[in-house]
Amino acid sequence: RRSWAEPWKIKMVEPLRIISRAEREAALKAAGYNTFLLRSEDVYIDLLTDSGTNAMSDRQWAALMMGDEAYAGSRSFYRLEAAVQQAYGYRHVIPTHQGRGAEHLISRIAIQPGQYVPGNMYFTTTRLHQELAGGTFVDVIIDEAHDPLSQYPFKGNVDLDKLQTLINQVGAKQIAYISLAGTVNMAGGQPVSMANVRAVRELCDRYGIRIFLDATRLVENAFFIKEREPGYDTRTIAEIVREFCSYTDGAWMSAKKDSLVNIGGWLALNDDQLADEARNLVVVYEGLHTYGGMAGRDMEALAVGIEESLQEDYIRARIGQVRYLGELLLDWNIPIVEPIGGHAIFLDARRFYPHLPQDLFPAQTLAAELYLDSGVRAMERGIASAGRDPKTGQNHYPKLELTRLTIPRRVYTQAHMDVVAEAVKAVYDQRERARGLRMVYEPRYLRFFQARFEPI
Ligand code: F0G
Repeated sequence: RRSWAEPWKIKMVEPLRIISRAEREAALKAAGYNTFLLRSEDVYIDLLTDSGTNAMSDRQWAALMMGDEAYAGSRSFYRLEAAVQQAYGYRHVIPTHQGRGAEHLISRIAIQPGQYVPGNMYFTTTRLHQELAGGTFVDVIIDEAHDPLSQYPFKGNVDLDKLQTLINQVGAKQIAYISLAGTVNMAGGQPVSMANVRAVRELCDRYGIRIFLDATRLVENAFFIKEREPGYDTRTIAEIVREFCSYTDGAWMSAKKDSLVNIGGWLALNDDQLADEARNLVVVYEGLHTYGGMAGRDMEALAVGIEESLQEDYIRARIGQVRYLGELLLDWNIPIVEPIGGHAIFLDARRFYPHLPQDLFPAQTLAAELYLDSGVRAMERGIASAGRDPKTGQNHYPKLELTRLTIPRRVYTQAHMDVVAEAVKAVYDQRERARGLRMVYEPRYLRFFQARFEPI
């Protein structure tokens, strides 16, 4: 087997800074043991998120100069609109400043208070907007998704029986829409199969239920379909993305992920009336319907990023790098979510720290320990992220208690991945020493972003 390498070379570099362990201890304490509250200058390798942390290409930087900064009717908007229509196949495109701007709009226009929103596992901001619109999210993902050791190739799939049971219980009219994400972030970047989205479409057609897609990492999902699903190995990533979208009625997008930019998003809809409502609401919360909170130059860079994201050699290198890191960790028997997903390696904090109960925030503890040891920044995706049930006020206790090493696109080299793997190993070797954390400040919304902790 011959090695392959990234299909690009580096034209501009950004120096990294490493501070001492004593300085990291002080920084972590000042940040309330929450990696979201660290200053990025105090971070060595930043794997907090793949959101908005991408490196743009020379073509994208050139496109920035072409931005048309007109308030209304910007040429850059029409360029973006055409790029989204071409790549994803929807009719109407409404720009937003980022993904949650689009989540807000779709939740407001498509959910009646009291309705249910079934989805393939929750995402933090997605579920919050659904709840703020008066909806109740219901998890209908297959059970395998909650099991970090299941090797099932499409752990993002919707469980059709769970969906049918919900329809039987509450009635189709009480279902706002299906909230379908590909890949599924909180499950470990796990994909949905084409057969599954087709089957969900068939089921929904019987009841007149709409499907809206979180297309944030759909390109990465398409890579797994090409690799794993019979009949798709000869199809292009672009064709797979289009086909997937064709089974849905619209999508929202955080362009900060798949589309290789630092900011941006959109909502796309096929229904004329719904699109009119979204276009009307966008002017209230985001900006005019031809910029939605983005500068003209952002829309130009995004249009180019969409094209680049669909290139086969790009996506193979992207997922290949994530896999490279995951395989290093598996070689050392470090517990991670398997199969390795699209955008990140998820350390399984339950198996990493079997002595820590979930109330002591094992995944948050692991993120803190990793930063202390090496300056590598990860993110909690466990009980802190899951938040509380809005009706009862009780903590959600998610089955998955994970620490995410999220890989920005086109930013770090293979040597950085080696350093990260060694850092995780060093923390693993001292795992018995970890004592856990207690939460001392809890914000009302999306608490994981700003919560503060203290060591036990
Ligand atoms: N949907 C998914 C699947 C996401 O992962 C995100 C953001 C959003 C929607 C919201 O988009 O951030 O542009 O407003 N995920 C980031 C992350 C924050 O780190 O996983 P946004």
